[in-house]
Amino acid sequence: MDLSTVDLSDRALYAGGFPHALFARLREEAPVFLHPATPGVMERIGEPFWVVSRFAHVRQVSRDTEGFAATDGPAIERFAEDRRNLTIVSMDPPDHRRLRGLISKGFFLPRMVDQLSEQIETWCRRIVDDLLADGGCEFVNDVAYRLPMNTIADVVGIPESDRQELFERVNRLMLAGEPSLGIDETERAEQEAAIFNYGIELAGEKRANPDDGVWSALTQAEFEDESGATSQLNDFELALFFLILVIAGSETTRNTLSAGLLAFENNPEQKQRFIADPSITDLATEELLRWTSPVLFFARTATRDTELAGQTIKQGDRVSIWYPSANRDPAEFADANQFLVDRPVNRHTSFGGGGPHLCLGAHLARKQIGCLFRELFSRTEALHIGPTHWYVAGLHNNVTCSLAPYQVELG
Ligand code: HEM
Repeated sequence: MDLSTVDLSDRALYAGGFPHALFARLREEAPVFLHPATPGVMERIGEPFWVVSRFAHVRQVSRDTEGFAATDGPAIERFAEDRRNLTIVSMDPPDHRRLRGLISKGFFLPRMVDQLSEQIETWCRRIVDDLLADGGCEFVNDVAYRLPMNTIADVVGIPESDRQELFERVNRLMLAGEPSLGIDETERAEQEAAIFNYGIELAGEKRANPDDGVWSALTQAEFEDESGATSQLNDFELALFFLILVIAGSETTRNTLSAGLLAFENNPEQKQRFIADPSITDLATEELLRWTSPVLFFARTATRDTELAGQTIKQGDRVSIWYPSANRDPAEFADANQFLVDRPVNRHTSFGGGGPHLCLGAHLARKQIGCLFRELFSRTEALHIGPTHWYVAGLHNNVTCSLAPYQVELG
């Protein structure tokens, strides 16, 4: 393929998952690549953008918050004006530090982590109990989505009775763009509005009856600006943050679990190695994250003219950094194209390339991934996987592609 004809907005590229072969060429021949203004890009993104594919450059851009700002949001298409500099993913220091500090209390208090670990173990047991009792299941929804959806709902404090409907909305919102599902722009906007409203109503309930979940903490938090004046998050800010939490907490971990099972089944000797040695659970979790790398990219805006790999990125340009590509960069990973459950050194970029935005839910995701596969394979080894295919939402979505529902049967 002539690289000048690359079109990352072409859904066909993701029909088999992430296009690793194409990115191997980009890393080699055009590691900082100005994506052409193809019709698909102009329709969805509205402007050409830079594609950064090497491990070292992904980390460099991610860590340089002065040179590359998050203000325009994480997608390549810039945030609408009313969302710029307003959410955790579209803020830069020092505002970002204040908001993040407040939220991270909800995720990092030792009491919270211990309590959540127990809840995650309980969910894993329940989920595997059901799979065994039924002799199999549809893995993507019944296992891979059920675990993170309930975990993030436990973190936020969403009642169990509301979870199914709410996360069905999140799922459809994220899959808008996949042609086979027929989710048009009207439905996408309705799903987003319904999730916003739910988050705001829940905030009202938490203000009246606080608990120790993240949502109670956020609805009551007082923010101090540089002048020392305090304020609380308004309804729109709360709604946006609720949306980020329910998306970030569920879809990503789901995709690592659903693609992770395939990684084990396609590499039986690695699966046996994992089963034989519980002490490598943490190493295997990191490798599952590297291998599946469910978030394809995040974007930033250059704040000044910058040279990177011999290219001049102009002030104001959009710059996308591609995590699955960084995760297969042979300059960083020995045997980068092999799935090795006991890979000893693994500085993967699946949770971001480092810097102030590094994933807040990383420890929760790790705990779920390790716990689920340990529970599953300690109780059954022989699984038959039905046919699989990928949903492709498209380049406007940071996840872009995810495995469609597939069947698993006990062998
Ligand atoms: C396999 C699972 C996950 C993956 C691969 C993942 C990946 C990412 C990535 C790539 C970023 C952007 C980092 C950057 O801009 O430098 C991010 C940010 C974030 N993630 Fe995750 N994530 C996962 C699970 C979770 C979970 C379970 C939660 C919530 C409990 C979560 C909450 C967040 C939040 C709030 C941010 C924004 C942080 C900030 O901008 O300061 N993520 N995640």
